[in-house]
Amino acid sequence: MNTRWLERASATLGISGFGFFIFSVVAMALGPVVMLRKVPMQTVEQISQNVIPDFYDLLVRYPDEFKKYFGDPGDPPDEAKMRQYFAEALRLGRKVYIAEGCWHCHSQFVRPLADEQLRFGPTSWAAEHQNELQLPPLFGTRRVGPDLIREAGVRSNDWHAAHFYDPQAVVPDSVMPRFTWFFEERKVPYENGVKIVPNQRGLAIITYVQWLGSWVRPPAEGVPLTASAAEDYR
Ligand code: HEC
Repeated sequence: MNTRWLERASATLGISGFGFFIFSVVAMALGPVVMLRKVPMQTVEQISQNVIPDFYDLLVRYPDEFKKYFGDPGDPPDEAKMRQYFAEALRLGRKVYIAEGCWHCHSQFVRPLADEQLRFGPTSWAAEHQNELQLPPLFGTRRVGPDLIREAGVRSNDWHAAHFYDPQAVVPDSVMPRFTWFFEERKVPYENGVKIVPNQRGLAIITYVQWLGSWVRPPAEGVPLTASAAEDYR
């Protein structure tokens, strides 16, 4: 039997397969790296210059835990210290978000579909992910719960505390699990002598979700959603 055609076909497929592999490495790995190299990337230190009001609110609500886990910013709170504690809380919050698998159920990316925009606002654009805390970005694929990329200010700290402790207490048909290990007991002279308050992980994850999306304003209508255009609209 003459098998030369078979050899020729497999050689052609082999070479083109290898060629496409090289092409995809160039297009999907080298290309983006070269393109993104010049894109400004905010560091956590830069981000934490704008301490969100919710972080001050945590200090007021849980002063003992705040001082125990982050430090005492004094009274009135020293701004430089608050910035430093905020950066710490954000870094830890992101780690907790990854460690607890929040990304199994939540995305951080508003997709380009009409219903998404009704629910979460404009499709996510590059500047939303141009910072150190989004490296690598936690886009997520599955969505059991809502998108969180713009969760900042949607709920109060109290709501988040109650929700992490027992989601069904605030959303009765929620399937989100309880995260009771974000909390500890504090002795108080009322309420049967104990109060449940967030611990370090609890304070950090609340700070992180309250920060998500607080750093960038949506671009004006009609403005192309490129990184540099969005930069102008910060
Ligand atoms: C098993 C899937 C699942 C996991 C894991 C999960 N969630 Fe959720 N989450 C949900 C669902 C479903 C909702 C919507 C119902 C509700 O509000 O409880 C939700 C709601 C939320 C909301 C409220 C959003 C809003 O404004 O309505 C926040 C914030 C949140 N989750 C954060 C987290 C964080 C942080 C983690 C990890 C510590 C996490 N979730 C883990 C399923 C999940």
